Amino acid sequence: MQTILVTGGAGYIGSHTCVELLEKNYEVIVIDNLINSSKESLNRVKKITGKSITFYEKDILDKDALDKIFNDHKIDAVIHFAGLKAVGESTQIPLTYYHNNLTGTLILLQAMQQASVFNLVFSSSATVYGEVNQAPYTEDMPLSATNPYGLTKVMIEQFLQDTYESHNYWNISILRYFNPVGAHKSGLIGEDPNGIPNNLMPYVSQVAVGKLKQLKVFGGDYPTIDGTGVRDYIHVTDLALGHIKALEKIASQTQTSIEAYNLGTGNGSSVLEVVNAFKEASSKDIPYDIVDRRPGDLAIAYANAGKAKAQLGWEANQTLKDMCQDTWNWQTNNPNGYR
Ligand code: NAD
Ligand code: WQD
Repeated sequence: MQTILVTGGAGYIGSHTCVELLEKNYEVIVIDNLINSSKESLNRVKKITGKSITFYEKDILDKDALDKIFNDHKIDAVIHFAGLKAVGESTQIPLTYYHNNLTGTLILLQAMQQASVFNLVFSSSATVYGEVNQAPYTEDMPLSATNPYGLTKVMIEQFLQDTYESHNYWNISILRYFNPVGAHKSGLIGEDPNGIPNNLMPYVSQVAVGKLKQLKVFGGDYPTIDGTGVRDYIHVTDLALGHIKALEKIASQTQTSIEAYNLGTGNGSSVLEVVNAFKEASSKDIPYDIVDRRPGDLAIAYANAGKAKAQLGWEANQTLKDMCQDTWNWQTNNPNGYR
């Protein structure tokens, strides 16, 4: 069976992907410095799957640590999640974001090249479609970004393109996630934000459980169905399964390639649609107030998910109701996350 090195595997999407990898009998090695996660997520992954993970509490900026991992294990492919991801924070501490995300990725790519490991699945984001394109987004649209976090994704995509062009033994899948939400059906793993959540679903969930008083809906005057922002929410387990499909394609194709794929449902939901779906799933009231738009937000963002379906044989199956139910199940079973 193949051995996969998962950077950032203790995080939200990483831990869900580890579950799906183990369920499919991949050997899993995780490197994570736990800057935005806890080791407990990996204990839970073991609990769900009954299988073990080799875990290194190390930083991807630590080249020696990476070299040692590549020396000590025969790694077939890397899934690279490790990175800092808060848009607002990235404007406050851009140098930290650039160093962690860009330098970290460069060091990882160097270690891979040195170890002759050329199969890579990279976590990109729908944020690379920037402000100029109109939804539904297709993979061939021009990329741009309006904040340091988004720019790290645009730049890393360019690093990967250049790397592939320099040596086409690289085999690279770039996955552009839309809005990952939800939690594993078991309620054992889920999103565990530090402090007050920036993102809609964890915020709504904490209002429903009574930890936060009311939701601020950012903008009620967008040109959308009800005036609130529209996004393509995707269940984190569907997203995790997309990584398996990307690995399978890399392993099966006779010619290497670099391809980008949107991982979204292809459908948009408004903020108020999410609030209503969550109300139904939780049977809780979710008080909200419509306030000013959040700077930098788009009115509408959703995927054209046709390429992933055609080339990876992947599509999202879970509904907004599933996403809300699973978020609620995780929230009520773990009111304080992993703490
Ligand atoms: P997360 O913060 O839960 O997971 C990232 C993990 O990487 C964390 O466990 C963190 O401790 C680790 N990490 C960060 N820097 C590291 C370093 N230098 N060395 C080792 N480990 C390090 O975030 P997530 O939501 O699971 O996101 C995973 C990836 O997907 C990120 O690259 C993120 O940018 C991308 N992404 C996330 C979203 C989203 O909304 N969650 C959307 C699009 C793309
Ligand atoms: C969704 C909608 C808000 C919070 C972000 C990143 C993106 C990607 C995913 C990493 C918007 C509204 C939100 C709140 C609200 N991450 N909202 N009240 O902004 O689409 O994407 O996460 O790559 O790069 O930008 O997600 O969940 O923050 O917002 O009304 O308290 O909910 O205005 O319409 P976003 P989000």
